[in-house]
Amino acid sequence: MKKVLVVFGTRPEAIKLCPLVIEMRKHLDELKVIVCVTAQHREMLDQVLNVFNVEPDYDLNLMRKNQSLFDITTGCLINVGKIIEQEEPDMLIAQGDTTTTISAMLAAYYYKVKVGHVEAGLRTNNKYSPFPEEMNRRMSSVISDLHFAPTQQNKNNLLLENIPEKNITITGNTVIDALFWVRNKIMSENRKFSVFDKIDFEKKIILVTGHRRENIGARSKCILSAIKNIALKNKDVEIVFPVHKNPNVVKNVRNILNGVSNIKLIEPLEYESFVYLMDKSYFIITDSGGIQEEAPSLGKPVLLTRDTTERPEAVEAGIVKLVGYDKDIIIKEAQKLLDSVDHYKKISSIQSPYGDGSACRQIVQKLFNEFNIIK
Ligand code: UD1
Ligand code: UDP
Repeated sequence: MKKVLVVFGTRPEAIKLCPLVIEMRKHLDELKVIVCVTAQHREMLDQVLNVFNVEPDYDLNLMRKNQSLFDITTGCLINVGKIIEQEEPDMLIAQGDTTTTISAMLAAYYYKVKVGHVEAGLRTNNKYSPFPEEMNRRMSSVISDLHFAPTQQNKNNLLLENIPEKNITITGNTVIDALFWVRNKIMSENRKFSVFDKIDFEKKIILVTGHRRENIGARSKCILSAIKNIALKNKDVEIVFPVHKNPNVVKNVRNILNGVSNIKLIEPLEYESFVYLMDKSYFIITDSGGIQEEAPSLGKPVLLTRDTTERPEAVEAGIVKLVGYDKDIIIKEAQKLLDSVDHYKKISSIQSPYGDGSACRQIVQKLFNEFNIIK
């Protein structure tokens, strides 16, 4: 029996690791899975744990209002370290590029515990964009022993950094496993969500999210005024904006978008209702990493309000368009999607490059090989 400690802390890590926890727990005779949440996010993390019905073995409850990178880094490092000391796992698994990710990996390294990195090999090659995620993911690759790369390009990035090929497995992204699992659940249960009672689904829905640190401040003002302009110009459109709980995000959003009748500002949605909303939307304006990966599987065009992306596959395919934070470009690209049916149809029929929803099974298979488990 091998012991695997899975550590995560934010909403997207939970969405991308809960399906893996569920998959690993199907193999009770071979794997003992311990879940530790740092709770770098609190409410937004709990929403995901509820949906997947995953109960953590350890909850570090670290989130503080307006926390700094130093607070989370030191809190995670010290407290995950204590759990590693107590549990003595054979491997620690973390996902992506957050502060929880890199701090948990560093703690594992200090105890000479092997590390598996889910969603490995994403790069912008600009160390401040996104900040601090690009550096977190580079450092994660240096520490990790097993690298689960979503795509061939991610694998190529790792090879360029001299990661041994035998330690890299291309799996697709586990977010697609999560997305399909939730979408099937919603459809089979024919779910309706009261949170959308005030949304007019007869109109074209534009879904908006935003939270990146490098966009907070002047850039967010440009992005938000573009969104306001789109709403005022297109009365047949309803803009739905679940606002991230970061107080610095909330402030600007409320200041600029409050009071526009066809803009609905709502609380962060549970993953099930969010997937429903993505599916009902016409297109999406976002700076999110996970949404860039999910939207192509649902055939939804994305305008990406960033100047770089570590997920070039969907941009190259054409379903995600980098629009930066230039107000005029955002308005122009949104209007094109709204006005030209041919343009919209062409873009929304592009295939997703992020996998077929079997990433978790492939990761478990690789763990079996690593642990010499024959099944
Ligand atoms: C973090 C990750 C980012 C990821 C994002 C997903 C880092 C450095 N950043 O950014 O990579 O894309 O999560 O959303 O790891 N808050 C709440 N309740 C919540 C969540 C957040 O109140 O459930 C507020 C708190 O005041 C908190 C603040 O948001 O201090 C910022 O949270 P933090 O995790 O530091 O940064 P994010 O911008 O959420
Ligand atoms: N998401 C959600 N509710 C929301 C907004 C987003 O469940 O109100 C999901 C979304 O489907 C995706 C993930 O959260 O899987 C993305 O999280 P976020 O944008 O906060 O972080 P990132 O992916 O940029 O790290």
